[in-house]
Amino acid sequence: MRKKIIAGNWKMNKTPAETVALINELKPLVVTEDADVIFCVPAISLTTALEAAKGTNIEIGAQNMYFEESGAFTGEIAPNMLTSIGIKYVIIGHSERREYFAESDVTVNKKVLKAFEHGITPIICCGESLTQREQGITIDWIRQQIKIAFLSVTADQAKTAVIAYEPIWAIGTGKVATTEQAEEVCKAIRECIAEIYDEATAAAIRIQYGGSVTAASAAELFSQADIDGGLVGGASLKADFGKIVNYK
Ligand code: PGA
Repeated sequence: MRKKIIAGNWKMNKTPAETVALINELKPLVVTEDADVIFCVPAISLTTALEAAKGTNIEIGAQNMYFEESGAFTGEIAPNMLTSIGIKYVIIGHSERREYFAESDVTVNKKVLKAFEHGITPIICCGESLTQREQGITIDWIRQQIKIAFLSVTADQAKTAVIAYEPIWAIGTGKVATTEQAEEVCKAIRECIAEIYDEATAAAIRIQYGGSVTAASAAELFSQADIDGGLVGGASLKADFGKIVNYK
């Protein structure tokens, strides 16, 4: 049985002081033994967030990481900067990183490999645009993203990875994918992992759905056979996140 994993992607929101306030507000609401609960906060608030989440079931994750160890990469964050403070999760290849910061499938793969090298669990994002969905190439596109993201990743590493399927047209738009659309793609991702590795790896890997998840849509989405939780943007900044985590 795969344990659910429900992550909040705070994006570029909340100062360190506001982070403490929001964690204090949410921590009694997100208590659960049924799911891993991750808050992915802006880099500047990671230390503060770790402190505020101490003694709770909340894990703190980063939203990005570079694929080099150190050096002349102004503005970037090295993997050991994350591990040195106790960060265990990092979002890799979010569609906003791909769209606004020129991340490609190749850089995603480099970051995924680097995260595993440092024992950080990557939450690897994939997703199609509205045009791609309308052209009927969603599954082909996602399979390509997955195949490149997992190049040179071992089966043992892949078993511990998290994939977030986030249709771009559903992110921040209030337009959640139907349960059937979400399950169809998450199932196809699991089949793709089985092809690359084997059934055991496919059965172990956790696949989230993301894109306008709310307290109203979480229960149906998360009870699908191939959906192991969610990556939640807007609704993770509100008390509603408690209802999403405790969706049952
Ligand atoms: P949203 O964002 O829930 O606000 O649509 C999801 C995401 O981008 O991870």
